[in-house]
Amino acid sequence: DMSVDLNGLVLQNPITVASGTFGFGREYGEYVDLNRLGAIMVKGLTLEERKGNPTPRVAETPMGMLNSVGLQNPGVEAFIKEELPYLSQFHTKIIANINGNTIEEYCRLAERLSDTAVDALELNISCPNVKEGGVAFGRDPEMVHRVTRCVRQSTPKYLIVKLSPNVRDIGEIAVAAEEGGADCISLINTLIGMSIDIERQRPVLARGIGGLSGPAIKPVALRMVYEAAKAVKIPIIGMGGIANDQDAIEFLLAGASAISVGTANFINPYVTMEIYDGIADYLERKGYQSVKDIIGKLNFS
Ligand code: DOR
Repeated sequence: DMSVDLNGLVLQNPITVASGTFGFGREYGEYVDLNRLGAIMVKGLTLEERKGNPTPRVAETPMGMLNSVGLQNPGVEAFIKEELPYLSQFHTKIIANINGNTIEEYCRLAERLSDTAVDALELNISCPNVKEGGVAFGRDPEMVHRVTRCVRQSTPKYLIVKLSPNVRDIGEIAVAAEEGGADCISLINTLIGMSIDIERQRPVLARGIGGLSGPAIKPVALRMVYEAAKAVKIPIIGMGGIANDQDAIEFLLAGASAISVGTANFINPYVTMEIYDGIADYLERKGYQSVKDIIGKLNFS
Protein backbone atom coordinates (compact mmCIF):
# COMPACT_ATOMS: atom_id res chain seq x y z
CA ASP A 1 0.00 0.00 0.00
CA MET A 2 1.66 3.19 -1.22
CA SER A 3 -1.05 5.62 -0.08
CA VAL A 4 -0.43 8.22 2.61
CA ASP A 5 -2.92 10.31 4.58
CA LEU A 6 -1.68 13.81 5.34
CA ASN A 7 -4.29 14.28 8.02
CA GLY A 8 -7.20 14.74 5.62
CA LEU A 9 -5.41 14.98 2.28
CA VAL A 10 -5.02 11.44 0.99
CA LEU A 11 -2.36 10.89 -1.69
CA GLN A 12 -2.30 7.66 -3.70
CA ASN A 13 1.45 7.59 -3.12
CA PRO A 14 3.97 9.84 -1.34
CA ILE A 15 5.68 11.08 -4.49
CA THR A 16 4.89 14.64 -5.51
CA VAL A 17 6.63 17.17 -7.71
CA ALA A 18 7.93 20.45 -6.31
CA SER A 19 6.50 23.78 -7.35
CA GLY A 20 8.43 25.52 -10.11
CA THR A 21 10.06 22.36 -11.41
CA PHE A 22 7.06 20.87 -13.21
CA GLY A 23 5.33 23.88 -14.74
CA PHE A 24 1.62 23.09 -15.03
CA GLY A 25 2.36 19.50 -15.97
CA ARG A 26 1.94 19.77 -19.74
CA GLU A 27 5.57 19.34 -20.82
CA TYR A 28 6.13 16.41 -18.44
CA GLY A 29 2.87 14.78 -19.51
CA GLU A 30 4.79 13.52 -22.56
CA TYR A 31 7.18 11.53 -20.39
CA VAL A 32 5.43 10.82 -17.10
CA ASP A 33 2.04 9.23 -16.54
CA LEU A 34 0.63 12.03 -14.39
CA ASN A 35 -1.93 9.55 -13.00
CA ARG A 36 0.92 7.91 -11.11
CA LEU A 37 1.94 10.97 -9.08
CA GLY A 38 0.73 11.54 -5.53
CA ALA A 39 0.31 15.25 -6.26
CA ILE A 40 1.47 18.02 -8.55
CA MET A 41 2.53 21.31 -6.99
CA VAL A 42 2.08 23.83 -9.79
CA LYS A 43 4.37 26.77 -10.53
CA GLY A 44 3.93 29.62 -8.04
CA LEU A 45 0.90 31.76 -8.82
CA THR A 46 0.20 35.43 -8.21
CA LEU A 47 -2.99 37.47 -8.69
CA GLU A 48 -1.62 39.17 -11.81
CA GLU A 49 0.71 37.86 -14.51
CA ARG A 50 4.43 38.26 -13.70
CA LYS A 51 7.32 38.38 -16.16
CA GLY A 52 9.93 37.39 -13.57
CA ASN A 53 13.45 38.71 -12.97
CA PRO A 54 16.03 39.77 -15.60
CA THR A 55 18.13 37.03 -17.22
CA PRO A 56 20.40 35.19 -16.73
CA ARG A 57 18.35 33.78 -13.90
CA VAL A 58 19.47 30.17 -13.85
CA ALA A 59 23.02 28.96 -13.20
CA GLU A 60 24.30 25.41 -12.88
CA THR A 61 26.98 24.37 -10.42
CA PRO A 62 28.49 20.88 -10.10
CA MET A 63 26.35 20.17 -7.02
CA GLY A 64 23.15 22.02 -7.74
CA MET A 65 21.25 24.72 -9.51
CA LEU A 66 20.80 28.39 -8.70
CA ASN A 67 17.68 30.23 -9.80
CA SER A 68 16.34 33.74 -9.49
CA VAL A 69 13.25 33.27 -11.64
CA GLY A 70 11.14 35.70 -9.63
CA LEU A 71 7.79 33.93 -9.81
CA GLN A 72 7.20 34.21 -13.53
CA ASN A 73 3.64 32.98 -14.13
CA PRO A 74 0.55 33.82 -16.20
CA GLY A 75 -1.55 34.92 -13.21
CA VAL A 76 -4.30 33.08 -11.38
CA GLU A 77 -7.09 33.73 -13.91
CA ALA A 78 -5.09 32.26 -16.81
CA PHE A 79 -4.20 29.29 -14.58
CA ILE A 80 -7.87 28.63 -13.78
CA LYS A 81 -8.98 29.02 -17.38
CA GLU A 82 -6.15 27.40 -19.33
CA GLU A 83 -4.17 25.08 -17.08
CA LEU A 84 -6.52 23.71 -14.44
CA PRO A 85 -8.89 21.97 -16.92
CA TYR A 86 -5.88 20.07 -18.36
CA LEU A 87 -4.58 19.04 -14.94
CA SER A 88 -8.04 18.04 -13.69
CA GLN A 89 -8.18 15.15 -16.17
CA PHE A 90 -5.60 13.21 -14.21
CA HIS A 91 -6.01 11.04 -11.16
CA THR A 92 -3.68 13.00 -8.92
CA LYS A 93 -4.00 15.87 -6.46
CA ILE A 94 -3.47 19.42 -7.69
CA ILE A 95 -1.76 21.75 -5.27
CA ALA A 96 -1.66 25.48 -6.10
CA ASN A 97 1.41 27.34 -4.83
CA ILE A 98 0.30 30.88 -3.92
CA ASN A 99 2.34 34.08 -3.60
CA GLY A 100 1.67 37.71 -2.74
CA ASN A 101 3.47 40.96 -2.05
CA THR A 102 1.19 41.58 0.92
CA ILE A 103 -0.84 39.46 3.32
CA GLU A 104 -3.97 40.77 1.63
CA GLU A 105 -2.78 39.50 -1.77
CA TYR A 106 -2.10 36.02 -0.36
CA CYS A 107 -5.61 35.97 1.09
CA ARG A 108 -7.31 37.19 -2.09
CA LEU A 109 -5.52 34.49 -4.06
CA ALA A 110 -6.58 31.84 -1.55
CA GLU A 111 -10.18 33.05 -1.79
CA ARG A 112 -10.07 33.03 -5.58
CA LEU A 113 -8.96 29.39 -5.66
CA SER A 114 -11.50 28.26 -3.05
CA ASP A 115 -14.24 27.16 -5.43
CA THR A 116 -11.95 25.65 -8.08
CA ALA A 117 -10.78 22.09 -8.69
CA VAL A 118 -7.49 22.54 -6.81
CA ASP A 119 -7.19 20.06 -3.94
CA ALA A 120 -4.93 22.12 -1.71
CA LEU A 121 -3.02 25.37 -1.44
CA GLU A 122 0.67 25.70 -0.74
CA LEU A 123 1.29 29.06 0.89
CA ASN A 124 4.73 30.08 -0.36
CA ILE A 125 6.43 32.25 2.25
CA SER A 126 9.88 31.17 1.17
CA CYS A 127 10.66 32.49 -2.32
CA PRO A 128 14.13 34.09 -2.08
CA ASN A 129 13.85 35.96 -5.40
CA VAL A 130 11.28 38.72 -4.88
CA LYS A 131 11.63 42.19 -3.37
CA GLU A 132 8.34 42.04 -1.53
CA GLY A 133 6.64 39.02 0.02
CA GLY A 134 8.39 35.67 -0.28
CA VAL A 135 10.97 34.81 2.32
CA ALA A 136 10.41 38.19 4.01
CA PHE A 137 7.21 36.57 5.36
CA GLY A 138 8.85 33.28 6.16
CA ARG A 139 11.68 34.39 8.41
CA ASP A 140 9.85 35.90 11.33
CA PRO A 141 7.65 33.57 13.43
CA GLU A 142 5.13 36.32 14.10
CA MET A 143 4.73 37.08 10.37
CA VAL A 144 4.47 33.35 9.59
CA HIS A 145 1.68 33.08 12.13
CA ARG A 146 -0.11 36.16 10.83
CA VAL A 147 -0.08 35.29 7.13
CA THR A 148 -0.99 31.65 7.80
CA ARG A 149 -3.94 32.67 9.97
CA CYS A 150 -5.23 35.15 7.41
CA VAL A 151 -5.06 32.59 4.60
CA ARG A 152 -6.61 29.95 6.87
CA GLN A 153 -9.58 32.26 7.40
CA SER A 154 -9.87 33.02 3.66
CA THR A 155 -10.38 29.47 2.39
CA PRO A 156 -11.73 26.07 3.40
CA LYS A 157 -9.07 24.35 1.23
CA TYR A 158 -6.43 22.11 2.76
CA LEU A 159 -3.53 24.41 3.60
CA ILE A 160 0.17 23.61 3.29
CA VAL A 161 2.73 26.23 4.32
CA LYS A 162 6.06 26.10 2.46
CA LEU A 163 9.04 26.99 4.61
CA SER A 164 12.46 28.42 3.88
CA PRO A 165 15.82 27.04 4.99
CA ASN A 166 17.04 30.65 5.27
CA VAL A 167 15.85 30.96 8.87
CA ARG A 168 17.39 30.93 12.32
CA ASP A 169 15.27 28.21 13.92
CA ILE A 170 13.18 25.95 11.66
CA GLY A 171 11.35 24.37 14.61
CA GLU A 172 10.11 27.76 15.78
CA ILE A 173 8.91 28.67 12.25
CA ALA A 174 7.16 25.31 11.85
CA VAL A 175 5.32 25.81 15.14
CA ALA A 176 4.24 29.31 14.07
CA ALA A 177 2.71 27.85 10.87
CA GLU A 178 1.00 25.08 12.83
CA GLU A 179 -0.46 27.53 15.35
CA GLY A 180 -1.59 29.80 12.50
CA GLY A 181 -3.78 26.94 11.26
CA ALA A 182 -1.67 25.09 8.67
CA ASP A 183 -2.80 21.53 7.92
CA CYS A 184 0.67 20.55 6.76
CA ILE A 185 4.09 22.06 6.15
CA SER A 186 6.39 21.57 3.20
CA LEU A 187 10.11 22.21 3.28
CA ILE A 188 12.67 23.20 2.16
CA ASN A 189 12.47 25.90 -0.49
CA THR A 190 15.82 26.92 -1.97
CA LEU A 191 18.86 27.99 0.04
CA ILE A 192 20.19 31.45 -0.83
CA GLY A 193 23.50 31.27 -2.68
CA MET A 194 25.57 32.83 -5.45
CA SER A 195 27.96 32.00 -8.26
CA ILE A 196 30.65 34.24 -9.83
CA ASP A 197 32.04 34.38 -13.37
CA ILE A 198 35.74 35.03 -12.69
CA GLU A 199 36.54 36.22 -16.23
CA ARG A 200 33.92 38.93 -16.20
CA GLN A 201 34.33 39.33 -12.44
CA ARG A 202 30.61 39.54 -11.92
CA PRO A 203 27.85 37.33 -10.57
CA VAL A 204 26.47 34.74 -12.99
CA LEU A 205 22.88 35.62 -12.10
CA ALA A 206 21.71 39.08 -13.19
CA ARG A 207 20.28 39.60 -9.73
CA GLY A 208 23.52 38.50 -8.01
CA ILE A 209 21.98 35.95 -5.68
CA GLY A 210 19.47 33.17 -6.09
CA GLY A 211 18.07 29.98 -4.60
CA LEU A 212 20.21 26.84 -4.58
CA SER A 213 18.54 23.48 -5.18
CA GLY A 214 19.65 19.96 -6.07
CA PRO A 215 22.03 17.48 -4.38
CA ALA A 216 24.01 20.24 -2.61
CA ILE A 217 21.12 21.02 -0.26
CA LYS A 218 19.98 17.49 0.58
CA PRO A 219 21.71 17.11 3.96
CA VAL A 220 20.46 20.56 5.02
CA ALA A 221 16.92 19.71 3.93
CA LEU A 222 16.96 16.34 5.67
CA ARG A 223 18.08 17.88 8.96
CA MET A 224 15.40 20.58 8.73
CA VAL A 225 12.65 18.05 7.95
CA TYR A 226 13.80 15.99 10.92
CA GLU A 227 13.73 19.02 13.25
CA ALA A 228 10.37 20.27 11.94
CA ALA A 229 8.88 16.78 12.37
CA LYS A 230 9.95 16.79 16.01
CA ALA A 231 8.52 20.29 16.56
CA VAL A 232 4.96 19.88 15.16
CA LYS A 233 2.10 17.36 15.06
CA ILE A 234 0.90 18.21 11.53
CA PRO A 235 2.30 16.18 8.63
CA ILE A 236 5.31 17.23 6.59
CA ILE A 237 6.13 17.10 2.91
CA GLY A 238 9.91 16.86 2.62
CA MET A 239 12.01 18.09 -0.26
CA GLY A 240 15.47 19.36 -1.14
CA GLY A 241 17.84 17.51 -3.41
CA ILE A 242 15.82 14.30 -3.72
CA ALA A 243 17.17 12.58 -6.84
CA ASN A 244 16.55 8.86 -6.28
CA ASP A 245 14.67 6.30 -4.17
CA GLN A 246 17.30 6.24 -1.43
CA ASP A 247 17.05 10.00 -0.95
CA ALA A 248 13.26 9.75 -0.79
CA ILE A 249 13.38 6.96 1.80
CA GLU A 250 15.75 9.02 3.96
CA PHE A 251 13.18 11.82 4.09
CA LEU A 252 10.37 9.40 4.97
CA LEU A 253 12.45 7.90 7.79
CA ALA A 254 13.28 11.41 9.03
CA GLY A 255 9.56 12.10 9.46
CA ALA A 256 8.17 13.31 6.12
CA SER A 257 4.78 11.79 5.22
CA ALA A 258 5.34 12.60 1.55
CA ILE A 259 8.21 13.89 -0.56
CA SER A 260 8.64 16.26 -3.49
CA VAL A 261 11.04 15.86 -6.34
CA GLY A 262 12.28 19.16 -7.75
CA THR A 263 15.48 19.86 -9.65
CA ALA A 264 15.99 16.15 -10.44
CA ASN A 265 12.99 16.38 -12.83
CA PHE A 266 15.10 18.63 -15.07
CA ILE A 267 17.86 16.04 -15.31
CA ASN A 268 15.73 12.92 -15.62
CA PRO A 269 12.03 13.40 -16.40
CA TYR A 270 11.35 9.76 -15.45
CA VAL A 271 12.81 10.14 -11.96
CA THR A 272 9.47 10.17 -10.10
CA MET A 273 8.52 6.79 -11.57
CA GLU A 274 11.92 5.35 -10.68
CA ILE A 275 11.51 6.61 -7.11
CA TYR A 276 8.06 4.99 -6.93
CA ASP A 277 9.46 1.63 -7.99
CA GLY A 278 12.45 1.96 -5.65
CA ILE A 279 10.26 2.68 -2.62
CA ALA A 280 7.98 -0.26 -3.47
CA ASP A 281 11.02 -2.58 -3.73
CA TYR A 282 12.39 -1.32 -0.42
CA LEU A 283 9.07 -2.00 1.35
CA GLU A 284 8.95 -5.50 -0.05
CA ARG A 285 12.58 -6.24 0.77
CA LYS A 286 12.11 -5.01 4.36
CA GLY A 287 8.80 -6.80 4.81
CA TYR A 288 6.50 -3.75 5.17
CA GLN A 289 2.89 -3.79 3.99
CA SER A 290 2.54 -0.03 3.79
CA VAL A 291 4.71 2.99 3.16
CA LYS A 292 3.06 4.51 6.26
CA ASP A 293 5.06 1.99 8.32
CA ILE A 294 8.38 3.71 7.59
CA ILE A 295 7.37 7.35 8.17
CA GLY A 296 9.45 8.74 11.04
CA LYS A 297 10.92 5.30 11.76
CA LEU A 298 14.46 6.59 12.26
CA ASN A 299 16.06 4.90 15.25
CA PHE A 300 19.17 5.74 17.21
CA SER A 301 19.85 2.34 18.75
O1 DOR B 1 13.81 29.09 -5.62
C1 DOR B 1 12.69 29.53 -5.85
N1 DOR B 1 12.43 30.14 -7.02
N2 DOR B 1 11.72 29.42 -4.92
C2 DOR B 1 10.49 29.94 -5.07
O2 DOR B 1 9.69 29.85 -4.17
C3 DOR B 1 10.14 30.64 -6.30
C4 DOR B 1 11.11 30.49 -7.43
C5 DOR B 1 11.12 31.73 -8.30
O3 DOR B 1 10.18 31.87 -9.10
O4 DOR B 1 11.99 32.57 -8.15
